[in-house]
Amino acid sequence: MDVTRRALLVGALLLASCAGGGVRFDEAPLQRGAVVSEHPLATQVGLDVLARGGNAADAAVATALALAVVYPVAGNLGGGGFALWAGADGAEEALDFRETAPTSADAAAYLDEEGRFVPARSLVGPLAVGVPGSPLGLHELWRRHGSGAFTWAELVQPALRLAREGFAVDPWLADDLTDEEVRAKMNPTALALFYPGGAPLEVGDRLVQPVLAGTLARLAAEGPRGFYGGPVAEALVGELARSEVPGLGRATRGFCTLEDLAGYAIAVREPLVGQFQGHELFAMPPPSSGGLVILQVLGVLEGLPLSSEVEAAREAGWRDALGERMVHWWIEALRMAFADRAEHMGDPDFHDVPVRELLSPAWITARRTSISERARVDVAPWAPPHESAQTTHLSVLDRAGNAVSMTTTLNGAFGSGLMVRGGGFLLNNELDDFAIQAGVPNQFGLVGNEANALRPRKRPLSSMSPTIARDTGGRVCLVIGSPGGPRIITATLQVMLRVWVLGQELGDAVRSPRLHQQWSPQATRFEAHEDGGWPPALLEALRERGQPLELLDWGFGSVQAILVEPDGSVRAASDPRRGGAAGLEGLGVTAPALPPRD
Ligand code: GLY
Repeated sequence: MDVTRRALLVGALLLASCAGGGVRFDEAPLQRGAVVSEHPLATQVGLDVLARGGNAADAAVATALALAVVYPVAGNLGGGGFALWAGADGAEEALDFRETAPTSADAAAYLDEEGRFVPARSLVGPLAVGVPGSPLGLHELWRRHGSGAFTWAELVQPALRLAREGFAVDPWLADDLTDEEVRAKMNPTALALFYPGGAPLEVGDRLVQPVLAGTLARLAAEGPRGFYGGPVAEALVGELARSEVPGLGRATRGFCTLEDLAGYAIAVREPLVGQFQGHELFAMPPPSSGGLVILQVLGVLEGLPLSSEVEAAREAGWRDALGERMVHWWIEALRMAFADRAEHMGDPDFHDVPVRELLSPAWITARRTSISERARVDVAPWAPPHESAQTTHLSVLDRAGNAVSMTTTLNGAFGSGLMVRGGGFLLNNELDDFAIQAGVPNQFGLVGNEANALRPRKRPLSSMSPTIARDTGGRVCLVIGSPGGPRIITATLQVMLRVWVLGQELGDAVRSPRLHQQWSPQATRFEAHEDGGWPPALLEALRERGQPLELLDWGFGSVQAILVEPDGSVRAASDPRRGGAAGLEGLGVTAPALPPRD
């Protein structure tokens, strides 16, 4: 990493109270490697790679490819993502394999005759699809950081086997397929696979994917060329040409062409760097908004008297020592950071994202000092001086201390619902992540403007937030991330805050109830489902501070996290809100949670 830039960003968030904090455990060796993902079979694939001498990059690649087979709701070849690498040698790198808008992408195609945005067009059908990045991104992760113990083809093999031989449908996939919206958006190829004979696959049915196996075999033999060119690329473009655009009937042309596929390139970026309570944090830079929001929020919070507030809350008897004042601070810090997101964040290759300004001590301090005892629902974004999912995350740590935090996405559950005939994989609906019309909310209710406007070859703004922390001795101590659209950011942040500020054990922190605040809409959403919801007295106290609240009877996010204790012992937790599994080398894979009963 560029030393000057790194020093600048570290300096930007080096706030008084973190100096001298933290723990050192340089001497304690890591006791085992770990893999956490949203499917037990994929976690097992990663553990097997570690056991056979692979490193974190090898295991992450094999796990992600396995997810493309066993977790079709979000695991993918036809989507994109971000991977954050932190090496045992102290080097970090962010790989951006986010989908890009095709060269002929044109915002007018998403509008009706009256110029009104038709949301369905950026969510289903061919206009929703960005140029996929996952196959090249995974290959690059292996090429740049793999141990050398595995060939690319060897890492594709477990996924290929799962596709060819099939696997038993798990309760989560069966549950997802009962969703009528999912069924409605699927094209005939996807329907034939997931609804054979017209009925959704059920728990225990064997899902065999020979066509996907064929695509994986090409990918194994030819590398990314086997996906971005030749029969797979032709099948992908052919699928877009035959698929219907909502409200228009058949597409006259698909946006994504063979040239777009052949020209797809990943971007290697420098991670954002920040500090929190003695931990050095590495986060995804734009086109993710996740890193900036996480570092802004932690920067604002770090300067507040967090430990005395925890003590006061403990004495007052609040659950988890989390009192209403602390929650009020979390909400206020999130609201301000999401206001900046809507105004300023987008693809840095197209829009000058004011990263330095948004992380500057002056701005962070201004934000912090603007927090009062009452909610400020009318905060404005940062103004320059002269004017104005479904997604899936996996975390891997190897015994040498290398880590990969990787989030990949199709955007909505099962992406655009378009499965490539002859390719066997689903295509993303990532173009909905653009602010196609300024100020008009996307599927997540997020608004944006010029910074995230749709432009040819541009990457849509993302909330994916793969994050890694090192301790003061430079050793990786946390590998974390989540799916969930903008809730990725809040879910990831809250686990970090619960572990570091409230002192909760990792599994408890992941399980604990969450809140979500994204500036617009104004209300903060609280998970209030029967198991472990927020104390009613706390919610009442927040209302009295003027915080608009909305209670949800569903959970959000699916955090996949690995924590290293000071003695080198490794903890791994997969979020019980979905059916993922944590795996520890030598100890096996945890049993996944079951979907909630209606
Ligand atoms: N598609 C979800 C995200 O990138 O934030």
